[in-house]
Amino acid sequence: MTSTYQPQTAVMEVGGVQLWANNCIRCHNSPPPNAYNDNEWDAIVNHMQKVGGLTVSDADKIADYLKASN
Ligand code: HEC
Repeated sequence: MTSTYQPQTAVMEVGGVQLWANNCIRCHNSPPPNAYNDNEWDAIVNHMQKVGGLTVSDADKIADYLKASN
Protein backbone atom coordinates (compact mmCIF):
# COMPACT_ATOMS: atom_id res chain seq x y z
CA MET A 1 0.00 0.00 0.00
CA THR A 2 2.98 2.32 -0.44
CA SER A 3 2.27 3.12 -4.09
CA THR A 4 -0.20 5.83 -4.98
CA TYR A 5 0.00 5.09 -8.72
CA GLN A 6 -3.47 4.28 -10.06
CA PRO A 7 -3.90 4.17 -13.84
CA GLN A 8 -7.21 5.79 -14.69
CA THR A 9 -8.40 2.90 -16.85
CA ALA A 10 -7.89 0.33 -14.09
CA VAL A 11 -9.79 2.06 -11.29
CA MET A 12 -13.07 0.20 -11.74
CA GLU A 13 -11.39 -3.20 -12.09
CA VAL A 14 -9.10 -2.62 -9.10
CA GLY A 15 -12.05 -1.51 -7.00
CA GLY A 16 -13.98 -4.64 -7.94
CA VAL A 17 -11.13 -7.05 -7.35
CA GLN A 18 -10.32 -5.47 -3.99
CA LEU A 19 -13.96 -5.57 -2.90
CA TRP A 20 -14.13 -9.18 -4.04
CA ALA A 21 -10.98 -10.10 -2.08
CA ASN A 22 -12.16 -8.20 1.00
CA ASN A 23 -15.73 -9.50 1.08
CA CYS A 24 -16.11 -12.79 -0.71
CA ILE A 25 -13.59 -14.84 1.29
CA ARG A 26 -15.00 -13.85 4.68
CA CYS A 27 -17.30 -16.87 4.83
CA HIS A 28 -15.85 -19.37 2.32
CA ASN A 29 -13.17 -19.78 -0.33
CA SER A 30 -14.51 -17.80 -3.25
CA PRO A 31 -14.38 -19.67 -6.56
CA PRO A 32 -12.37 -17.97 -9.34
CA PRO A 33 -14.11 -15.67 -11.87
CA ASN A 34 -14.03 -18.35 -14.57
CA ALA A 35 -15.98 -20.80 -12.41
CA TYR A 36 -19.31 -19.25 -13.53
CA ASN A 37 -20.73 -17.45 -16.56
CA ASP A 38 -22.18 -13.91 -16.51
CA ASN A 39 -25.76 -14.99 -15.77
CA GLU A 40 -24.63 -17.23 -12.93
CA TRP A 41 -22.48 -14.47 -11.39
CA ASP A 42 -25.43 -12.05 -11.52
CA ALA A 43 -27.57 -14.53 -9.58
CA ILE A 44 -24.79 -15.49 -7.14
CA VAL A 45 -23.64 -11.94 -6.35
CA ASN A 46 -27.24 -10.80 -5.95
CA HIS A 47 -27.75 -13.62 -3.44
CA MET A 48 -24.40 -13.04 -1.68
CA GLN A 49 -25.11 -9.30 -1.46
CA LYS A 50 -28.06 -10.12 0.80
CA VAL A 51 -26.37 -13.00 2.66
CA GLY A 52 -23.21 -10.96 3.26
CA GLY A 53 -24.86 -7.62 3.91
CA LEU A 54 -22.88 -5.88 1.13
CA THR A 55 -24.04 -2.58 -0.31
CA VAL A 56 -25.67 -2.84 -3.74
CA SER A 57 -22.98 -0.50 -5.07
CA ASP A 58 -20.15 -2.75 -3.86
CA ALA A 59 -21.93 -5.86 -5.14
CA ASP A 60 -22.29 -4.22 -8.57
CA LYS A 61 -18.54 -3.56 -8.70
CA ILE A 62 -17.77 -7.13 -7.65
CA ALA A 63 -20.15 -8.48 -10.32
CA ASP A 64 -18.54 -6.24 -12.94
CA TYR A 65 -15.09 -7.54 -12.00
CA LEU A 66 -16.18 -11.20 -12.05
CA LYS A 67 -17.99 -10.86 -15.40
CA ALA A 68 -15.02 -9.01 -16.93
CA SER A 69 -12.62 -11.74 -15.81
CA ASN A 70 -14.46 -15.00 -16.56
C1 HEC B 1 -21.85 -13.68 5.28
C2 HEC B 1 -21.13 -14.79 4.68
C3 HEC B 1 -20.92 -14.77 3.16
C4 HEC B 1 -20.34 -13.79 2.39
C5 HEC B 1 -19.79 -12.43 2.84
C6 HEC B 1 -20.32 -14.30 1.04
N1 HEC B 1 -20.87 -15.55 1.00
FE1 HEC B 1 -20.98 -16.76 -0.65
N2 HEC B 1 -21.99 -18.16 0.46
C7 HEC B 1 -22.29 -18.06 1.81
C8 HEC B 1 -23.08 -19.20 2.20
C9 HEC B 1 -23.61 -19.46 3.61
C10 HEC B 1 -23.27 -20.01 1.03
C11 HEC B 1 -24.04 -21.32 0.87
C12 HEC B 1 -25.52 -21.16 1.16
C13 HEC B 1 -26.23 -20.24 0.21
O1 HEC B 1 -26.08 -20.35 -1.02
O2 HEC B 1 -26.96 -19.35 0.72
C14 HEC B 1 -22.54 -19.33 -0.03
C15 HEC B 1 -22.42 -19.81 -1.32
C16 HEC B 1 -21.68 -19.23 -2.33
C17 HEC B 1 -21.46 -19.79 -3.65
C18 HEC B 1 -22.00 -21.12 -4.16
C19 HEC B 1 -23.30 -20.83 -4.90
C20 HEC B 1 -23.82 -22.02 -5.66
O3 HEC B 1 -24.83 -21.82 -6.36
O4 HEC B 1 -23.25 -23.10 -5.54
C21 HEC B 1 -20.70 -18.90 -4.35
C22 HEC B 1 -20.18 -19.03 -5.77
C23 HEC B 1 -20.47 -17.76 -3.48
N3 HEC B 1 -21.06 -17.99 -2.26
C24 HEC B 1 -19.78 -16.63 -3.86
C25 HEC B 1 -19.66 -15.49 -3.07
C26 HEC B 1 -19.19 -14.21 -3.56
C27 HEC B 1 -18.73 -13.92 -4.99
C28 HEC B 1 -19.22 -13.36 -2.50
C29 HEC B 1 -18.88 -11.86 -2.49
C30 HEC B 1 -19.78 -11.01 -3.24
C31 HEC B 1 -19.71 -14.10 -1.33
N4 HEC B 1 -19.98 -15.37 -1.75
C32 HEC B 1 -19.84 -13.59 -0.05
C33 HEC B 1 -21.88 -17.07 2.66
C34 HEC B 1 -21.26 -15.88 2.27
